[in-house]
Amino acid sequence: MGNGIAHLFATKNFKVNLVDTSKDKLDDAIQLIEKNLERQVSKNIIASDKKQNALQNIATFTSIRKGVENASIVIEAATENIDLKLKIFKELDEAAPVNCILATNTSSIPITKIGSATKRPQQVIGMHFMNPVPVMKLVEIINGYDTDKKVTDEIIELSKQLGKTPYVVKDYPGFIANRILMPMLNEAVYSLHEGVAGVEEIDSIMKLGMAHPMGPLQLADFIGLDVCHSILKVLYEGFGNPKYAPCPLLSNMVNANYLGIKTGEGFYKYSKNNKDLAVSKRFV
Ligand code: CAA
Repeated sequence: MGNGIAHLFATKNFKVNLVDTSKDKLDDAIQLIEKNLERQVSKNIIASDKKQNALQNIATFTSIRKGVENASIVIEAATENIDLKLKIFKELDEAAPVNCILATNTSSIPITKIGSATKRPQQVIGMHFMNPVPVMKLVEIINGYDTDKKVTDEIIELSKQLGKTPYVVKDYPGFIANRILMPMLNEAVYSLHEGVAGVEEIDSIMKLGMAHPMGPLQLADFIGLDVCHSILKVLYEGFGNPKYAPCPLLSNMVNANYLGIKTGEGFYKYSKNNKDLAVSKRFV
């Protein structure tokens, strides 16, 4: 998600400081951004000089402090781990200029909780992009308990400048996008777990019957089964309702590190370019 967000801002001519924990990860991110920009050039979505310009707009940093010292907005897109996010936001609060907005791309962790790690909860807000970021039109904006209306208005305006359509929601578990999406994905995993149908049938039924671009099991692989699992846990704990409990099959797959595209296998097995989709042998 971080590389997609950097890609988007850079093509809209913002100067981006991309921060990650190691030079290797940053090199991988730049390579992926370059590949995705090239895909847009080859499809005439952007001109080739725009690709070079976008790449020049991105500088890389392994230090949060150096990366954010002159920022007007920070968008955090680290792993969905609450302790990690609280640590990062404490550091961001100490390092970023006083007027800087601290946004998070979290898919489910409470914004109010993240804001409480800072001395500026009024400037902390959820700015939730969808994957693939350069393609998907939505930005789900989430107000924390203390988020200032001025900050929300600025993020609405910024989302529009990026060519996206923003919708503002309140800070409740899973917000709106994942509160509705994740139970559907979990139900698809339950249907497979209970032997109601196979991977291909479940995905094809939802693609052909509901005009979804990807079936729910393929989408879960695309998002990352670990991410789906952690969002379901947030919903389950946040509402205290067993209807959100992750399917045991999903838990097993996460424990065994079959996380979908990112590990090369989930409900499907992926080739290097992800083009040839084959149902994982476990489910044939
Ligand atoms: N960067 C830039 N452009 C990209 C891209 C990327 N990473 N990935 C795809 N594209 C572009 C392609 O260039 C192509 O553009 P044109 O239509 O102009 O030719 C377009 O997207 C479609 O791509 P493809 O032709 O390669 O493949 P496709 O038609 O199968 O579409 C898809 C791929 C856009 C991913 C589509 O399958 C889709 O919309 N899937 C559902 C995605 C979804 O639901 N996302 C939300 C996930 S939930 C989430 O992100 C939030 C969370 O908190 C978990």
